[in-house]
Amino acid sequence: MSTHIDEPVALAVIGGTGLYQLAGLEDVETHQPVTRYGALSGPVRVGRIAGHRVAFLARHGEGHSVPPHLVNYRANLAALQSLGASSVLALNTVGGITEDFGPRVLACPDQLIDYTWGRISTFCEEPGTEVLHVDFGDPYTPSLRRRIIDAAATAGVALVDGGCYGATQGPRLETRAEISRMRRDGCDLVGMTGMPEAGLAHELGLDYACLAVVANWAAGAGPQVDEVITLEDVLANVAAASSGLPDLVGAM
Ligand code: HPA
Repeated sequence: MSTHIDEPVALAVIGGTGLYQLAGLEDVETHQPVTRYGALSGPVRVGRIAGHRVAFLARHGEGHSVPPHLVNYRANLAALQSLGASSVLALNTVGGITEDFGPRVLACPDQLIDYTWGRISTFCEEPGTEVLHVDFGDPYTPSLRRRIIDAAATAGVALVDGGCYGATQGPRLETRAEISRMRRDGCDLVGMTGMPEAGLAHELGLDYACLAVVANWAAGAGPQVDEVITLEDVLANVAAASSGLPDLVGAM
């Protein structure tokens, strides 16, 4: 375990449900940075993919023990920045709402609606901190989205360009009525961890984009309206949909 880093990381990747390590990461060192915001979700694994120095952190912990509303989003992002990362690729496991976003699809959304509540959502709470009102019209950094989309094309990984991510509180899944409302609101995808992470990344001045891994049809959204969503299906679909990730990250 080390807290010292010689070479800054080029890209930080945060893994979601079912993504507890980054396949293809080589020469891995483990770092446990200390932050003023408390403990992060777990160790940061720093290694190389296709020669790029990449840091990986499992958002829910490597044993999936941290629920979405208790993730220390501030500590996680501050830690990744302290390792030199200026770009964060957020992998988010999601449910699909609209027709292009069925199970096993990878998507790079360009918009977001926040339905979460009660989470620490700013770095501006510390006494004496200047209050920031960061621009959030583009919740995902356009240039980083472009890099992801181009890398997917280079790596031959199918990816939907665009879509609106709705961030819910969890940890329970949604009712069919909640998903109907989200569809009317314009959401294509639903997940529990997209916020406050994206907003906090903006406050830190990090480039940030989401690569959403569709694990299931959201409640009532699929062809079988009363289908029950099981963790087994979620994990199997995430594993299948993520097989191209090492090549995609390597091409970034
Ligand atoms: N809803 C919210 N979060 C999710 C889902 C879902 O259906 N699937 C995976 N993460």
